[in-house]
Formats: sequence, structure tokens, C-alpha cells
Amino acid sequence: MEKTTQMYEGKAKKVFATDDPNLCIVSYKDDATAFNGLKKGTILGKRAVNNRVTNFLMKMLESKGIPTHFVEELSDRETVVKKVTIIPLEVIVRNIAAGSLSKRLGLEEGVVMKRPVIEYSYKNDDLGDPMVNEYHILAMEYCTKEELDLIASYALKINEILTEYLKGVNIELVDFKLEFGKTADGQIVLADEISPDTCRFWDTSTHEKLDKDRFRRDLGGVEGAYQEVYKRLLGD
Ligand code: TMP
Repeated sequence: MEKTTQMYEGKAKKVFATDDPNLCIVSYKDDATAFNGLKKGTILGKRAVNNRVTNFLMKMLESKGIPTHFVEELSDRETVVKKVTIIPLEVIVRNIAAGSLSKRLGLEEGVVMKRPVIEYSYKNDDLGDPMVNEYHILAMEYCTKEELDLIASYALKINEILTEYLKGVNIELVDFKLEFGKTADGQIVLADEISPDTCRFWDTSTHEKLDKDRFRRDLGGVEGAYQEVYKRLLGD
């Protein structure tokens, strides 16, 4: 299978078409942005961590019944994935208050939610990914009711599987963002990535942040935190 034209370049990844109309190649970048691209930087080694961590977790989720876009890891930074049309939603799941939820509801970071919370944002950089609810999503036809119900049930199941798995490597899953896509034959699959860029990971014992908040908040030790997540999940 051959890489052909570049289809898309995002803030952290490029996507290439291939000579197979049902497959794409994702190429991860070390580039990091935050606050809708306002803050820019580089996290050395991030592309390999995010590529391999995403693939590792997607394979694990597949084995537990969650369909994903993952096909085959090609190298440190490149992976073959199923071609999908991305549903224009960021699906956020929260177990512990942090970030924008803490701000919005006046909750101290670290407050454990009584039950998981799902939030949706409409994926649109020009609008700053505004938060939407089920009514907006159905009125705007971002997806159908059946698709949204499936996405929400996958998101909660993914939360259970990841929370349990990460506990085993001393990581607390605070919150995370998922994206789903639709294959040519209409199947909804988990797409995009699951990585320290898109999750809040705290060390269970020390509550040390092991994710992109180190970059967003200038906490230092960014590269080390990404490598630590890699090491805990995939070994040296
Ligand atoms: P938030 O607290 O800033 O809303 O972020 C919630 C979770 O979603 C957190 O794990 C980081 C992730 N996230 C992304 O992956 N991309 C984004 O653009 C934003 C704003 C958050």
C-alpha cells in the first residue's frame, strides 16, 4: 500500500490518502498547540509516544468490543487507519473535575464526580469548538439520534475499560476527548487519538500531571511526562 496525496494537515497530525480508497495513513507531529492554536510549541518525541500509545490503547479497546479505525502501525510516527468521515464532535468524558469543567462550575481540580460526565463540543476551530448538547447535535444534524446513542454508549464503555486498565499502571484517568468517524459502509468507529495530548493522566499516588497540561500551563518536564506514560504502557 502506497501513500499518495496529503488530504489534511491538523495541529498535531497529517493524514494521507493511499492507493486503497478505504485506507489512510496518519502521520503524527511533534508540534503542540493549546488554547485553540494560540500557544504553539514542540514536544520532542511526542509523535512516537502519541502514535504508539494510541495504537496500543485502540488495540486493547478493539479486543474488548469497541470498533476503532486502527489497521496497522507502520513506524514510530505513521499508522494505517480506516478512511472515515469524522463526526464533527469532540466527545469529552470526565471522572474528576479539572480544566474547563472546574472553571465553569467553580470546582476545585481533583473533586471526584459522583458519576462520569459526557460533554460534546462542535469541532470548529473558527468558533473555538463551542460546547453543544444533544438538542443542538440533532437539530444541526451533526449525526443521527441512533449514532449519538451509540457514541455515548461507546464513550462510557471506553471510560470503564481505560480507567480500569490505567489503574494497573498507577495512572488516574481524570478526563479525555474522543472523536468518532463513519466508514464507507456506515459503521461508527473510534477515530483520532488517545494520548497525553487528549487525556488528563495523573499519577495515582502523587497526582503528578502526566499529560499536555504540563505544556498548557508551563509546568516543565513535558517530554519526561510523555515518555513516562509510554514506559508505563509499553515498557522501555
Ligand atoms: P478541557 O478541560 O480543557 O475542556 O479538556 C477536557 C479534556 O479534553 C482534556 O483531557 C483535554 C482534552 N482536550 C482535547 O483533547 N482537545 C481540545 O481541544 C480540548 C479543549 C481538550
